[in-house]
Amino acid sequence: LGDIFNESERPQFHFSPQANWMNDPNGLVYYQGEYHFFYQHHPGGIVWGPMHWGHAVSSDLVHWTHLSIALYPDEQGDAWSGSAVVDANNTSGFFPGGSGLAALYTGAHTVPQQQCLAHSSDRGRTWTKYKYNPVIANPGVSDFRDPKVFWYASEQLWVMVVAGGQVRFYSSPDLKSWLLESQLDDHTECPDLFPLAIDGDPNKQKWVLSLGGRFYYVGSFDGHIFSKESDLLTTDYGSDFYAAQSWSNIPASDGRCIWIGWMADLSYAHVTPATSWRGTISIPRSLELKTTPQGLRLVQMPIRELEQLRSEHVHLDRSELTPGTNLLADMRSDTLDIVASFQPGSGREFGFKLRAGGEEQTLVGYDTRTSRLFVDRTQSGRSDFNNRFAARHEAPLLLKNNMLTLRILLDRTSIEVFASDGEVVISDLIFPNVSSQSIELYTSGGETILHSLDLYHMSSAWKQ
Ligand code: FRU
Repeated sequence: LGDIFNESERPQFHFSPQANWMNDPNGLVYYQGEYHFFYQHHPGGIVWGPMHWGHAVSSDLVHWTHLSIALYPDEQGDAWSGSAVVDANNTSGFFPGGSGLAALYTGAHTVPQQQCLAHSSDRGRTWTKYKYNPVIANPGVSDFRDPKVFWYASEQLWVMVVAGGQVRFYSSPDLKSWLLESQLDDHTECPDLFPLAIDGDPNKQKWVLSLGGRFYYVGSFDGHIFSKESDLLTTDYGSDFYAAQSWSNIPASDGRCIWIGWMADLSYAHVTPATSWRGTISIPRSLELKTTPQGLRLVQMPIRELEQLRSEHVHLDRSELTPGTNLLADMRSDTLDIVASFQPGSGREFGFKLRAGGEEQTLVGYDTRTSRLFVDRTQSGRSDFNNRFAARHEAPLLLKNNMLTLRILLDRTSIEVFASDGEVVISDLIFPNVSSQSIELYTSGGETILHSLDLYHMSSAWKQ
Protein backbone atom coordinates (compact mmCIF):
# COMPACT_ATOMS: atom_id res chain seq x y z
CA LEU A 1 0.00 0.00 0.00
CA GLY A 2 2.90 2.33 0.78
CA ASP A 3 3.99 2.27 -2.87
CA ILE A 4 0.55 2.67 -4.40
CA PHE A 5 -0.08 5.61 -2.11
CA ASN A 6 3.17 7.40 -2.80
CA GLU A 7 2.59 8.71 -6.33
CA SER A 8 3.40 12.38 -6.76
CA GLU A 9 -0.23 13.55 -6.63
CA ARG A 10 -1.36 11.10 -3.96
CA PRO A 11 -2.64 12.76 -0.76
CA GLN A 12 -0.61 11.44 2.16
CA PHE A 13 -3.06 12.09 4.97
CA HIS A 14 -6.33 12.58 3.11
CA PHE A 15 -8.45 9.76 1.77
CA SER A 16 -8.36 8.92 -1.94
CA PRO A 17 -9.60 5.88 -3.88
CA GLN A 18 -7.11 3.17 -4.74
CA ALA A 19 -8.12 3.37 -8.38
CA ASN A 20 -10.64 5.20 -10.57
CA TRP A 21 -13.16 7.92 -9.87
CA MET A 22 -14.52 9.13 -6.53
CA ASN A 23 -16.96 11.94 -5.76
CA ASP A 24 -19.25 12.48 -2.74
CA PRO A 25 -18.75 10.89 0.69
CA ASN A 26 -21.70 8.57 1.39
CA GLY A 27 -23.07 6.43 4.19
CA LEU A 28 -20.84 7.81 6.93
CA VAL A 29 -21.60 5.80 10.04
CA TYR A 30 -19.77 4.57 13.12
CA TYR A 31 -20.60 0.98 14.07
CA GLN A 32 -18.93 -1.55 16.34
CA GLY A 33 -15.58 0.22 16.53
CA GLU A 34 -15.36 1.19 12.87
CA TYR A 35 -15.92 4.45 11.06
CA HIS A 36 -17.39 3.57 7.69
CA PHE A 37 -16.65 5.71 4.71
CA PHE A 38 -18.57 4.94 1.54
CA TYR A 39 -18.20 7.10 -1.51
CA GLN A 40 -19.57 7.73 -4.98
CA HIS A 41 -17.38 5.59 -7.14
CA HIS A 42 -17.05 4.74 -10.82
CA PRO A 43 -14.88 1.63 -10.96
CA GLY A 44 -14.75 1.79 -14.76
CA GLY A 45 -12.64 4.91 -15.21
CA ILE A 46 -11.28 8.20 -13.87
CA VAL A 47 -14.34 10.24 -14.83
CA TRP A 48 -17.88 10.10 -13.45
CA GLY A 49 -19.94 7.16 -14.72
CA PRO A 50 -22.43 4.56 -13.46
CA MET A 51 -22.29 5.11 -9.72
CA HIS A 52 -21.36 2.46 -7.18
CA TRP A 53 -20.62 2.87 -3.49
CA GLY A 54 -16.91 2.39 -2.78
CA HIS A 55 -16.06 1.46 0.80
CA ALA A 56 -13.33 1.94 3.39
CA VAL A 57 -13.16 1.62 7.19
CA SER A 58 -11.05 3.16 9.90
CA SER A 59 -10.78 2.94 13.66
CA ASP A 60 -9.40 6.47 14.00
CA LEU A 61 -10.54 8.45 10.92
CA VAL A 62 -6.86 8.76 9.90
CA HIS A 63 -5.75 5.30 8.75
CA TRP A 64 -8.13 3.75 6.22
CA THR A 65 -8.52 0.20 4.95
CA HIS A 66 -9.99 -0.10 1.48
CA LEU A 67 -12.76 -2.68 1.14
CA SER A 68 -14.65 -4.01 -1.85
CA ILE A 69 -17.50 -2.18 -3.55
CA ALA A 70 -20.60 -2.06 -1.36
CA LEU A 71 -23.44 -1.08 -3.71
CA TYR A 72 -23.78 -1.75 -7.43
CA PRO A 73 -26.22 -0.34 -9.99
CA ASP A 74 -29.38 -2.41 -10.47
CA GLU A 75 -32.76 -2.14 -12.19
CA GLN A 76 -33.73 0.59 -9.70
CA GLY A 77 -30.91 2.76 -11.02
CA ASP A 78 -27.28 3.56 -10.33
CA ALA A 79 -26.36 4.00 -6.66
CA TRP A 80 -26.15 7.75 -6.17
CA SER A 81 -25.45 9.56 -2.91
CA GLY A 82 -27.06 8.75 0.39
CA SER A 83 -26.45 7.91 4.02
CA ALA A 84 -26.27 4.97 6.41
CA VAL A 85 -27.64 4.43 9.90
CA VAL A 86 -27.43 1.83 12.62
CA ASP A 87 -30.86 0.26 13.12
CA ALA A 88 -30.18 -0.47 16.78
CA ASN A 89 -33.71 -1.57 17.68
CA ASN A 90 -34.48 -3.45 14.49
CA THR A 91 -37.24 -1.01 13.51
CA SER A 92 -36.85 -2.28 9.94
CA GLY A 93 -37.23 -5.95 10.80
CA PHE A 94 -34.06 -6.76 8.84
CA PHE A 95 -32.07 -7.66 11.96
CA PRO A 96 -34.05 -10.09 14.12
CA GLY A 97 -32.63 -10.17 17.62
CA GLY A 98 -29.94 -7.59 16.91
CA SER A 99 -28.86 -4.54 15.00
CA GLY A 100 -27.40 -3.81 11.61
CA LEU A 101 -26.66 -1.13 9.04
CA ALA A 102 -29.20 0.36 6.68
CA ALA A 103 -28.34 2.59 3.73
CA LEU A 104 -30.72 5.04 2.10
CA TYR A 105 -29.51 6.16 -1.31
CA THR A 106 -30.80 7.48 -4.58
CA GLY A 107 -31.47 5.16 -7.48
CA ALA A 108 -30.90 7.31 -10.56
CA HIS A 109 -29.63 7.88 -14.07
CA THR A 110 -31.39 4.95 -15.75
CA VAL A 111 -34.63 5.73 -13.87
CA PRO A 112 -36.18 8.95 -12.46
CA GLN A 113 -34.42 9.78 -9.18
CA GLN A 114 -35.94 7.79 -6.32
CA GLN A 115 -34.95 6.75 -2.81
CA CYS A 116 -33.88 3.17 -2.18
CA LEU A 117 -32.97 1.07 0.84
CA ALA A 118 -30.31 -1.59 1.40
CA HIS A 119 -29.24 -3.44 4.55
CA SER A 120 -26.20 -5.25 5.88
CA SER A 121 -25.88 -7.72 8.74
CA ASP A 122 -22.11 -8.17 8.46
CA ARG A 123 -20.74 -4.75 9.41
CA GLY A 124 -21.20 -3.28 5.96
CA ARG A 125 -19.21 -5.92 4.07
CA THR A 126 -22.13 -7.18 2.01
CA TRP A 127 -25.45 -5.52 1.29
CA THR A 128 -28.92 -6.68 0.32
CA LYS A 129 -31.22 -4.34 -1.57
CA TYR A 130 -34.74 -4.07 -0.18
CA LYS A 131 -37.04 -6.05 -2.45
CA TYR A 132 -39.76 -3.38 -2.53
CA ASN A 133 -37.49 -0.55 -3.64
CA PRO A 134 -37.96 2.34 -4.17
CA VAL A 135 -39.06 3.33 -0.68
CA ILE A 136 -39.91 6.80 -2.00
CA ALA A 137 -40.89 6.99 -5.65
CA ASN A 138 -40.07 10.07 -7.69
CA PRO A 139 -42.76 12.68 -6.99
CA GLY A 140 -42.57 14.12 -10.51
CA VAL A 141 -39.48 16.32 -10.18
CA SER A 142 -36.17 16.08 -12.00
CA ASP A 143 -33.94 16.48 -8.92
CA PHE A 144 -34.83 14.26 -6.00
CA ARG A 145 -31.76 12.85 -4.37
CA ASP A 146 -29.16 12.45 -1.64
CA PRO A 147 -31.20 11.26 1.37
CA LYS A 148 -29.58 11.90 4.77
CA VAL A 149 -31.30 9.93 7.52
CA PHE A 150 -31.07 10.13 11.31
CA TRP A 151 -32.96 8.84 14.34
CA TYR A 152 -35.08 11.50 16.08
CA ALA A 153 -35.20 9.93 19.52
CA SER A 154 -37.83 12.10 21.21
CA GLU A 155 -40.47 11.03 18.65
CA GLN A 156 -39.01 7.59 17.99
CA LEU A 157 -38.94 8.31 14.26
CA TRP A 158 -36.43 8.26 11.47
CA VAL A 159 -36.06 11.60 9.70
CA MET A 160 -34.87 12.01 6.11
CA VAL A 161 -33.72 15.26 4.59
CA VAL A 162 -33.46 14.98 0.83
CA ALA A 163 -32.80 17.46 -1.96
CA GLY A 164 -34.68 18.08 -5.12
CA GLY A 165 -36.04 21.34 -6.43
CA GLN A 166 -36.68 21.88 -2.75
CA VAL A 167 -35.28 20.45 0.45
CA ARG A 168 -37.84 17.91 1.66
CA PHE A 169 -38.23 16.38 5.11
CA TYR A 170 -39.76 12.94 5.55
CA SER A 171 -40.34 10.71 8.57
CA SER A 172 -40.59 6.96 8.99
CA PRO A 173 -41.08 4.42 11.80
CA ASP A 174 -39.24 1.62 9.98
CA LEU A 175 -37.01 3.08 7.19
CA LYS A 176 -39.42 1.56 4.66
CA SER A 177 -42.55 3.72 4.64
CA TRP A 178 -41.96 7.46 4.49
CA LEU A 179 -44.25 10.43 5.06
CA LEU A 180 -43.56 13.87 3.57
CA GLU A 181 -43.56 16.27 6.52
CA SER A 182 -42.42 19.61 5.13
CA GLN A 183 -40.29 21.35 2.55
CA LEU A 184 -38.09 24.41 2.07
CA ASP A 185 -37.57 26.32 -1.14
CA ASP A 186 -33.78 26.08 -1.24
CA HIS A 187 -32.29 24.17 -4.13
CA THR A 188 -29.26 22.03 -3.32
CA GLU A 189 -27.58 18.67 -3.60
CA CYS A 190 -26.49 16.61 -0.58
CA PRO A 191 -28.35 18.30 2.30
CA ASP A 192 -27.57 17.40 5.91
CA LEU A 193 -29.28 18.28 9.18
CA PHE A 194 -27.85 17.89 12.68
CA PRO A 195 -28.03 19.45 16.15
CA LEU A 196 -24.98 21.14 17.63
CA ALA A 197 -24.30 22.39 21.15
CA ILE A 198 -23.84 26.15 21.44
CA ASP A 199 -20.48 27.26 22.85
CA GLY A 200 -19.86 23.74 24.13
CA ASP A 201 -22.90 23.77 26.45
CA PRO A 202 -24.82 20.52 25.87
CA ASN A 203 -27.96 22.06 27.37
CA LYS A 204 -28.14 24.66 24.64
CA GLN A 205 -28.43 23.55 21.05
CA LYS A 206 -29.54 24.63 17.61
CA TRP A 207 -29.83 22.72 14.37
CA VAL A 208 -27.70 23.25 11.31
CA LEU A 209 -29.16 22.62 7.85
CA SER A 210 -26.23 22.18 5.49
CA LEU A 211 -26.81 22.77 1.80
CA GLY A 212 -24.23 20.67 -0.02
CA GLY A 213 -21.41 21.67 2.32
CA ARG A 214 -21.25 25.09 0.65
CA PHE A 215 -23.86 26.97 2.68
CA TYR A 216 -25.88 26.48 5.86
CA TYR A 217 -28.69 27.83 7.98
CA VAL A 218 -28.85 27.80 11.76
CA GLY A 219 -32.33 27.08 13.06
CA SER A 220 -34.69 24.82 14.99
CA PHE A 221 -36.09 21.41 14.16
CA ASP A 222 -39.02 19.68 15.87
CA GLY A 223 -38.92 16.36 14.05
CA HIS A 224 -41.20 17.66 11.31
CA ILE A 225 -40.28 21.21 10.27
CA PHE A 226 -36.98 23.07 10.09
CA SER A 227 -37.32 26.77 10.95
CA LYS A 228 -34.53 29.04 9.71
CA GLU A 229 -33.13 31.45 12.26
CA SER A 230 -30.24 32.84 10.25
CA ASP A 231 -29.41 34.13 6.80
CA LEU A 232 -27.81 31.73 4.36
CA LEU A 233 -24.21 31.45 5.62
CA THR A 234 -21.00 30.29 3.94
CA THR A 235 -19.44 27.07 5.17
CA ASP A 236 -16.12 27.28 3.37
CA TYR A 237 -14.68 30.16 1.32
CA GLY A 238 -12.47 27.95 -0.83
CA SER A 239 -13.63 26.28 -3.96
CA ASP A 240 -13.05 22.66 -2.98
CA PHE A 241 -15.34 21.57 -0.18
CA TYR A 242 -18.53 20.04 -1.51
CA ALA A 243 -21.23 17.46 -0.79
CA ALA A 244 -20.23 17.34 2.89
CA GLN A 245 -21.80 14.72 5.13
CA SER A 246 -21.72 14.19 8.90
CA TRP A 247 -21.03 10.84 10.56
CA SER A 248 -24.00 9.05 11.99
CA ASN A 249 -23.98 7.23 15.34
CA ILE A 250 -20.80 8.67 16.87
CA PRO A 251 -21.02 7.47 20.50
CA ALA A 252 -22.51 9.97 22.95
CA SER A 253 -19.42 9.44 25.12
CA ASP A 254 -17.42 11.03 22.31
CA GLY A 255 -20.03 13.70 21.74
CA ARG A 256 -18.51 15.17 18.59
CA CYS A 257 -20.22 15.93 15.32
CA ILE A 258 -17.71 15.17 12.55
CA TRP A 259 -18.07 15.72 8.85
CA ILE A 260 -16.07 15.45 5.69
CA GLY A 261 -16.47 16.88 2.18
CA TRP A 262 -15.40 16.03 -1.35
CA MET A 263 -12.50 18.30 -2.37
CA ALA A 264 -13.68 19.41 -5.78
CA ASP A 265 -15.70 21.92 -7.70
CA LEU A 266 -18.17 20.58 -10.24
CA SER A 267 -16.81 22.90 -12.94
CA TYR A 268 -13.43 21.10 -13.08
CA ALA A 269 -13.73 17.94 -10.96
CA HIS A 270 -13.51 15.68 -14.01
CA VAL A 271 -10.42 17.33 -15.57
CA THR A 272 -7.99 17.77 -12.67
CA PRO A 273 -4.53 16.23 -13.23
CA ALA A 274 -4.88 12.47 -12.70
CA THR A 275 -3.42 9.17 -13.78
CA SER A 276 -5.16 6.02 -12.55
CA TRP A 277 -7.44 7.54 -9.89
CA ARG A 278 -9.18 10.84 -9.28
CA GLY A 279 -10.76 12.45 -6.23
CA THR A 280 -9.80 13.41 -2.70
CA ILE A 281 -11.66 14.15 0.49
CA SER A 282 -11.23 16.88 3.09
CA ILE A 283 -9.81 16.20 6.49
CA PRO A 284 -12.55 15.08 8.90
CA ARG A 285 -13.64 18.18 10.82
CA SER A 286 -15.36 18.39 14.14
CA LEU A 287 -18.18 20.92 14.27
CA GLU A 288 -19.49 23.32 16.88
CA LEU A 289 -21.73 26.36 17.03
CA LYS A 290 -20.18 29.47 18.45
CA THR A 291 -21.67 32.79 19.51
CA THR A 292 -19.98 35.59 17.58
CA PRO A 293 -20.78 39.31 17.31
CA GLN A 294 -22.50 38.45 14.00
CA GLY A 295 -24.61 35.66 15.52
CA LEU A 296 -24.26 31.88 15.80
CA ARG A 297 -21.66 30.48 13.44
CA LEU A 298 -20.51 27.01 12.49
CA VAL A 299 -16.90 26.41 13.48
CA GLN A 300 -14.88 23.56 12.00
CA MET A 301 -11.54 22.19 13.17
CA PRO A 302 -9.51 19.17 12.03
CA ILE A 303 -10.13 16.14 14.26
CA ARG A 304 -7.52 15.75 17.01
CA GLU A 305 -6.71 12.19 15.83
CA LEU A 306 -4.76 13.75 12.97
CA GLU A 307 -2.06 14.91 15.37
CA GLN A 308 -0.67 11.35 15.56
CA LEU A 309 0.83 11.91 12.10
CA ARG A 310 2.84 14.94 13.16
CA SER A 311 6.60 14.29 12.86
CA GLU A 312 9.60 16.67 12.55
CA HIS A 313 8.70 19.81 14.44
CA VAL A 314 9.90 23.39 14.27
CA HIS A 315 8.89 25.91 16.92
CA LEU A 316 9.40 29.66 16.73
CA ASP A 317 8.72 32.00 19.61
CA ARG A 318 7.71 35.60 19.21
CA SER A 319 9.72 37.06 16.33
CA GLU A 320 9.58 40.15 14.19
CA LEU A 321 9.04 39.50 10.51
CA THR A 322 10.56 42.02 8.13
CA PRO A 323 10.08 42.26 4.37
CA GLY A 324 12.55 40.22 2.36
CA THR A 325 13.64 37.83 5.13
CA ASN A 326 12.39 34.28 5.60
CA LEU A 327 12.77 32.60 8.99
CA LEU A 328 11.97 29.23 7.38
CA ALA A 329 14.47 29.52 4.54
CA ASP A 330 16.02 26.09 5.12
CA MET A 331 12.81 24.11 5.28
CA ARG A 332 11.10 22.03 2.65
CA SER A 333 7.98 19.88 2.82
CA ASP A 334 4.91 18.89 0.82
CA THR A 335 2.88 17.71 3.82
CA LEU A 336 2.50 20.07 6.75
CA ASP A 337 0.39 20.84 9.78
CA ILE A 338 0.98 24.46 10.79
CA VAL A 339 -0.27 26.24 13.90
CA ALA A 340 0.54 29.94 13.81
CA SER A 341 -0.50 33.23 15.33
CA PHE A 342 0.34 36.72 14.14
CA GLN A 343 -0.04 40.27 15.41
CA PRO A 344 -0.28 42.69 12.52
CA GLY A 345 2.13 45.64 12.63
CA SER A 346 2.91 48.06 9.85
CA GLY A 347 2.89 45.22 7.27
CA ARG A 348 0.21 45.39 4.62
CA GLU A 349 0.04 41.67 4.13
CA PHE A 350 1.60 38.64 5.77
CA GLY A 351 1.41 34.88 5.91
CA PHE A 352 2.96 31.84 4.27
CA LYS A 353 4.16 30.94 0.81
CA LEU A 354 3.91 27.16 0.55
CA ARG A 355 4.89 24.67 -2.14
CA ALA A 356 7.21 27.39 -3.41
CA GLY A 357 9.87 26.81 -6.04
CA GLY A 358 10.64 28.20 -9.48
CA GLU A 359 7.64 30.24 -10.54
CA GLU A 360 5.31 28.42 -8.17
CA GLN A 361 3.87 29.34 -4.80
CA THR A 362 0.61 28.95 -2.93
CA LEU A 363 -0.13 31.89 -0.66
CA VAL A 364 -2.04 31.82 2.61
CA GLY A 365 -2.21 35.39 3.77
CA TYR A 366 -4.01 38.15 5.56
CA ASP A 367 -4.54 41.56 4.02
CA THR A 368 -4.64 44.12 6.82
CA ARG A 369 -6.20 46.83 4.64
CA THR A 370 -9.19 44.80 3.60
CA SER A 371 -9.32 42.58 6.73
CA ARG A 372 -9.50 39.53 4.52
CA LEU A 373 -7.91 36.13 4.73
CA PHE A 374 -6.99 34.54 1.42
CA VAL A 375 -5.58 31.53 -0.33
CA ASP A 376 -4.02 32.50 -3.64
CA ARG A 377 -3.48 29.59 -6.01
CA THR A 378 -2.97 31.64 -9.16
CA GLN A 379 0.66 30.43 -9.25
CA SER A 380 0.21 27.17 -7.36
CA GLY A 381 1.15 24.89 -10.25
CA ARG A 382 -0.96 23.28 -12.94
CA SER A 383 -4.15 25.16 -13.72
CA ASP A 384 -4.37 24.85 -17.51
CA PHE A 385 -7.19 22.30 -17.28
CA ASN A 386 -9.87 24.89 -16.42
CA ASN A 387 -9.98 28.67 -16.61
CA ARG A 388 -11.61 29.03 -13.19
CA PHE A 389 -8.90 27.16 -11.34
CA ALA A 390 -6.16 29.82 -11.11
CA ALA A 391 -7.88 32.01 -8.53
CA ARG A 392 -7.60 33.76 -5.22
CA HIS A 393 -10.24 32.87 -2.62
CA GLU A 394 -10.93 35.39 0.12
CA ALA A 395 -12.92 35.54 3.31
CA PRO A 396 -13.79 38.53 5.51
CA LEU A 397 -12.12 38.10 8.89
CA LEU A 398 -12.08 40.64 11.70
CA LEU A 399 -9.27 39.99 14.14
CA LYS A 400 -9.86 39.52 17.85
CA ASN A 401 -7.41 41.31 20.14
CA ASN A 402 -5.38 42.16 17.05
CA MET A 403 -4.34 38.52 16.66
CA LEU A 404 -4.72 36.15 13.70
CA THR A 405 -4.63 32.46 14.52
CA LEU A 406 -4.18 29.98 11.70
CA ARG A 407 -4.17 26.22 11.38
CA ILE A 408 -3.07 25.07 7.94
CA LEU A 409 -3.10 21.53 6.57
CA LEU A 410 -1.02 21.10 3.47
CA ASP A 411 -1.10 17.81 1.60
CA ARG A 412 0.35 16.99 -1.81
CA THR A 413 -2.64 18.33 -3.74
CA SER A 414 -4.67 20.29 -1.22
CA ILE A 415 -4.61 23.06 1.32
CA GLU A 416 -7.12 23.68 4.12
CA VAL A 417 -6.92 26.82 6.21
CA PHE A 418 -8.79 27.15 9.51
CA ALA A 419 -8.63 30.70 10.89
CA SER A 420 -9.85 32.02 14.24
CA ASP A 421 -10.24 28.51 15.66
CA GLY A 422 -12.27 27.34 12.68
CA GLU A 423 -14.67 30.27 12.27
CA VAL A 424 -13.37 30.90 8.77
CA VAL A 425 -12.28 28.03 6.53
CA ILE A 426 -10.77 28.00 3.03
CA SER A 427 -10.23 24.65 1.29
CA ASP A 428 -8.56 24.42 -2.08
CA LEU A 429 -6.96 21.87 -4.37
CA ILE A 430 -3.51 22.66 -5.76
CA PHE A 431 -1.33 20.85 -8.30
CA PRO A 432 2.26 22.01 -7.76
CA ASN A 433 5.40 20.57 -9.24
CA VAL A 434 6.82 17.76 -7.06
CA SER A 435 10.00 19.76 -6.51
CA SER A 436 8.22 22.93 -5.28
CA GLN A 437 8.54 22.37 -1.55
CA SER A 438 9.99 25.55 -0.07
CA ILE A 439 8.28 27.31 2.80
CA GLU A 440 8.32 31.04 3.39
CA LEU A 441 7.04 33.13 6.23
CA TYR A 442 6.51 36.56 4.71
CA THR A 443 5.40 40.10 5.39
CA SER A 444 5.17 42.86 2.82
CA GLY A 445 4.93 46.63 3.09
CA GLY A 446 6.17 46.68 6.71
CA GLU A 447 6.69 44.51 9.80
CA THR A 448 4.48 41.84 11.28
CA ILE A 449 4.90 40.12 14.64
CA LEU A 450 4.88 36.36 14.55
CA HIS A 451 3.41 35.53 17.95
CA SER A 452 4.21 31.83 17.77
CA LEU A 453 4.66 29.07 15.24
CA ASP A 454 4.55 25.31 15.40
CA LEU A 455 5.19 23.61 12.13
CA TYR A 456 5.08 19.85 11.74
CA HIS A 457 6.00 17.69 8.81
CA MET A 458 3.22 15.11 8.40
CA SER A 459 3.91 11.40 8.03
CA SER A 460 1.97 9.37 5.54
CA ALA A 461 -1.17 7.67 6.82
CA TRP A 462 -0.54 4.85 4.33
CA LYS A 463 2.86 3.60 5.46
CA GLN A 464 2.04 0.87 7.92
C1 FRU B 1 -23.15 15.66 -5.98
C2 FRU B 1 -23.98 14.68 -6.78
C3 FRU B 1 -25.17 14.20 -5.99
C4 FRU B 1 -25.49 12.89 -6.65
C5 FRU B 1 -24.12 12.36 -6.95
C6 FRU B 1 -24.05 11.52 -8.17
O1 FRU B 1 -21.83 15.71 -6.37
O2 FRU B 1 -24.39 15.26 -8.01
O3 FRU B 1 -26.24 15.11 -5.98
O4 FRU B 1 -26.23 12.03 -5.83
O5 FRU B 1 -23.27 13.48 -7.07
O6 FRU B 1 -22.78 10.93 -8.28
